[in-house]
Amino acid sequence: MNPFSGLESIVRQDEPLDMHTWYHLGGPAEYFAEPTTPDQLLELIRRARENEMPVRTLGHGSNILVRDEGVSGLTIHMVAEEFARIETDGTRLKAMGGAALGRTVTSSVHAGLAGLEMLIGIPGSIGGALHGNAGAGGTHVGQWLTEATVVTDKGETITRTVDDLVFGYRQSSLDELIILEAIFELKEDDPRRLARSMQQQWIVRKAAQPMGHQCAGCVFKNPQGATAGELIDSAGLKGTRIGGAIVSNRHAGFILAEPECTCQDIVRLVDLVRDQVNERMGYELELEIEIW
Ligand code: EPU
Repeated sequence: MNPFSGLESIVRQDEPLDMHTWYHLGGPAEYFAEPTTPDQLLELIRRARENEMPVRTLGHGSNILVRDEGVSGLTIHMVAEEFARIETDGTRLKAMGGAALGRTVTSSVHAGLAGLEMLIGIPGSIGGALHGNAGAGGTHVGQWLTEATVVTDKGETITRTVDDLVFGYRQSSLDELIILEAIFELKEDDPRRLARSMQQQWIVRKAAQPMGHQCAGCVFKNPQGATAGELIDSAGLKGTRIGGAIVSNRHAGFILAEPECTCQDIVRLVDLVRDQVNERMGYELELEIEIW
C-alpha cells in the first residue's frame, strides 16, 4: 500500500535527485514530495511518521551532495510559490523558507533596507541559509533574524524568537525539519548606496570564486585561525583530480564536478584533501557541505 495514497499529485517515487542539486549528482529519493500548501506539508509529515519513514528537507540543493545510491524515506522539496514569498513592511522583511537568498537580498536592497547586501551571490534558499548560517564579507544571515516559524519532525508548527536561538560560524540552532518563514529586522538606508555595495560584493566574489561551475560553494569550513582555501592551496592541492572531481584552480575551497563525475569521486577527493591538509599543514578540515 502506497504510504502517500491520495497525494500522488505531489509525491513521486524514485525521483532522481541529480537535477535538484547544484552538483547534479547522486541517486534517487525513494519518495519525493513538492507540497504546495502548509496543509499538504503537514499531511506528508504525518504520513511519514505513521510509516516510520525518515524525512529530509531539500531547499535549492546548493550545499548538498547526494550519494550515488540515493536516499531512503521521504524528501520534501520546498519550492512551491506558497513557500517562496518575500514581503517588506517598514524595516521588517519576511521571507518564506523556500525563497531564494539572492532574491531576498535584492528585495531588501530595492526596499532600502541594509544588512543582507553582502550575502549577494550565495546560492540557496532562506531555509538552507538559516540552517547553515550562510555568511560572507563579515556578516551572516542569522544576525538579522528576529523570528522564525518552523515545523518540527512531529509536525508541530512553532515560532522561535531570537532570544532562544544561537548562530555561530556556519552553524545554527534553528535545526527543526522545516523553516517555513523568517522575519528579519533590517536598517533603513539609501537604496542606491546599497545597490552599489551589493554590485561591488558581486564583482569581488565572481573574481575569487568559481561561480557558474558545477559545484556547491565552499566544501570545508574555515578552521579556527586559518582558511580552508589557503591551507588546501598551500598543501599544493589545487587542480588535484579523482575521476571527474577536481580541486578548483581558482579557489581551493571549492571542488568542481566535471560531467562524468560521480558522488563517490567527490567523497574520495574530500578524504584525500582532508588527509593531505592534516599531514602537511596540521589542520583537521570539517565539511561545510552536507552529504546525504
Ligand atoms: N586563498 C588562497 N588560495 C585559495 C583560496 C583562498 O590562498 O585557493 C586565500 C586568499 O588569498 C585569502 C584567504 O585565503 O587570503 C581567504 O580567502 P577568501 O577571501 O576567498 O575567503 P574564504 O575564507 O576562503 C570565506 C567563505 C566564503 C565567502 C568568502 C567571502 C568559508 C568556508 N568560506 O571564504 O563562503 O564567500 O569568505 O566572504 O567560510 C561558503 O561558505 O560556501 C563560501 C563560499
